[in-house]
Amino acid sequence: MAERKFFVGGNFKMNGTKASLDDIITNLNTVNCPVTDVVVAPPTLYLDYVINKITSQVQVASQNCYKVSKGAYTGEVSPAMLTDIGVNWVVLGHSERRHVFNETNELIGSKVKHALESGLSVIPCIGEKLDEREAGVTEQVVFEQMKFIKDNVEDWTKVVIAYEPVWAIGTGKTATPGQAQEIHEKLRKWLADNVSEAVAKSTRIIYGGSVNGGNCKELAKGKDIDGFLVGGASLKPEFLDIIKANA
Ligand code: G3P
Repeated sequence: MAERKFFVGGNFKMNGTKASLDDIITNLNTVNCPVTDVVVAPPTLYLDYVINKITSQVQVASQNCYKVSKGAYTGEVSPAMLTDIGVNWVVLGHSERRHVFNETNELIGSKVKHALESGLSVIPCIGEKLDEREAGVTEQVVFEQMKFIKDNVEDWTKVVIAYEPVWAIGTGKTATPGQAQEIHEKLRKWLADNVSEAVAKSTRIIYGGSVNGGNCKELAKGKDIDGFLVGGASLKPEFLDIIKANA
C-alpha cells in the first residue's frame, strides 16, 4: 500500500496579533518531525509576516482564496498572490466558508480547480452538520461534497482531504476514533470507486473537529486517519504534541 505521510494542519481562523503569532512561531521553529508534513494557516493579513519568520519544516497555507487570478473582486485574494509571497497551500471549503459565508459546492469546486492550476496544493474540507448526521445522511452529504472536488482535480498528489464534522468543530465534542475511522474508510472507498485504487491508497484524509493533545494519539491509530486539521489547539503549545501524534 502506498505510504501516506502523516499530515497536521493548523487553522488559526480569525485569531492572532503579531505579538501572539511571534510566540506561536517560536514554538513552530522547534518542529523537527520528518515523518509528518506540518502546515499552518494564519489569517490572510499575517501570511507574509509568518512565512518570513518560520525557519523550520513548517509550511504556510492560506485559509481561503478566490477562483480567478485577478480582477474586480473587492476583498478577495488570488492563488497567484499567494504563490507570489511563497504560500504553497490553501484550505478551501471550510465549514465556516460554507455555512457562515454561504459558499456552494460549485464555488468551492471552481476554487479547487483554479488553485491547483495556479500551483497551490489544496486542503478541501468536507463534513456534515449535526442535523444531517442525526438524519442519517452523512454519507450522502460528504459524497456530494467530494464529487464537486473530484470533478476539479487532475493531480491528486496536490490534494489532502479534510473531513471535519461540523458538529465537532469548536464544540469540544470530538468524533470518537470509531466515528472518524468509519467515515474516513468510506471516503477512501469512495475515492477508489470514483477516481482510482491508486488515488484512494495515496491520498491523505485528515480529521478535524476538536482535536487536542489528549485525544490525538487515539484518533491517529485509525488506519484511514492520516492526520488532522486543528483549530483552537493549533494556537496553543499542545499543537507540538499533536504534530507528533503518530511519531
Ligand atoms: O479547520 C479546523 C477546525 O475547523 C477545527 O476546529 O477548534 O474544533 O479544532 P477545532
